[in-house]
Amino acid sequence: WWRSIEPAPKDPILGVTEAFLMDQSPNKVNVGVGAYRDDNGKPVVLDCVREAERRIAGNQNMEYLPIGGSIKMVEESLKLAYGENSEFIKDKRIAAVQALSGTGACRLFAAFQQRFHPDSQIYIPNPTWANHHNIWRDAGLPIRIYQYYHPESRGLDFAALMDDIKNAPNGSFFLLHACAHNPTGVDPTEEQWREISSQFKVKGHFAFFDMAYQGFASGNPERDAKAVRIFLEDGHLIGLAQSYAKNMGLYGQRVGCLSVVCEDEKQAIAVKSRLQQLARPMYSNPPVHGALIVSTVLGDTQLKKLWLQEVKVMADRIIGMRSELREKLEKLGSRLSWKHITNQIGMFCYSGMSPEQVDRLTKEFHIYMTRNGRISMAGLNTGNVGYVAEAIHEVTKS
Ligand code: LMR
Repeated sequence: WWRSIEPAPKDPILGVTEAFLMDQSPNKVNVGVGAYRDDNGKPVVLDCVREAERRIAGNQNMEYLPIGGSIKMVEESLKLAYGENSEFIKDKRIAAVQALSGTGACRLFAAFQQRFHPDSQIYIPNPTWANHHNIWRDAGLPIRIYQYYHPESRGLDFAALMDDIKNAPNGSFFLLHACAHNPTGVDPTEEQWREISSQFKVKGHFAFFDMAYQGFASGNPERDAKAVRIFLEDGHLIGLAQSYAKNMGLYGQRVGCLSVVCEDEKQAIAVKSRLQQLARPMYSNPPVHGALIVSTVLGDTQLKKLWLQEVKVMADRIIGMRSELREKLEKLGSRLSWKHITNQIGMFCYSGMSPEQVDRLTKEFHIYMTRNGRISMAGLNTGNVGYVAEAIHEVTKS
């Protein structure tokens, strides 16, 4: 049956973790996967999550959720993304379902796009999170690239981005990273978002936002939702993927939300029913536990306040690591510019290192990262940042 099957290539991100786990060196460092670690390099369970789990334990049954997931979790997610007083929520114009974290939200949307716009394609930024390619490919939709990153300045190539938006056929689907672009850490400014939004209006494009890092970029979820809010103000009917992996540390719980803004309530009901129709044969209904944690934390004033503090602590630790890494490289006498380490935001630094330099870091220094030169800043801490800086200096100096 399976004789002709060759092994699949390793995943460019999760494959790095596999290799890291096999390495026996005491000096090994994992700055591959985007997963938060504390200053001792340990995964963190937030206090708000521990408290929510304490309240949930033994008090909840484990029945199936509806196909669309926990209504309470979805409601809280919409308030977080669209704003407490959003007119769209009041007018019941948002079709939304619980999703299997950000990946599941993107995948379900891609399936929805494919079903109702089978001849459409998706524009994704160059570069983007590697899994975006897989998701839309497996949904059976052609992928187009739009320019995003400018390697020389290690910043945004705004002119090229705008050109690609203008040159795409009217009414195209675009994937946008709402904040903390993965892998580059480069986001448009507020002014640039406004220009992007108005150009989308001119062209009649559809914006699908992947918001995997709300709160993680700036420490403030309201600020990180700015791009989404600008598009809403401008009257776009957007799609949105939300994830609680990073901002609530619920990685393995696979909890998130997919929402689609509709013209009116009637349309929202129809769209939601179609999302559910797609979800049922894929996974039937989403898991309970993560949704209970999210709805318990966001639905309780005190716990939500604690969460906001804890998100900020995580974001600030990463911001601190950016300064330290840059400072250490400069002190080592690197002749390269490392300003981009502190200019970029979110979980990642797109270092500009070549795949060969990354290979050297791994082979000679046991430092594990993706071959595109992306450093997960959350993997750095006061104990290893000096070692990593020295290693980076060593492989980049000639
Ligand atoms: C990452 O980009 O490292 C994370 O989003 C984890 C993943 O699933 O790839």
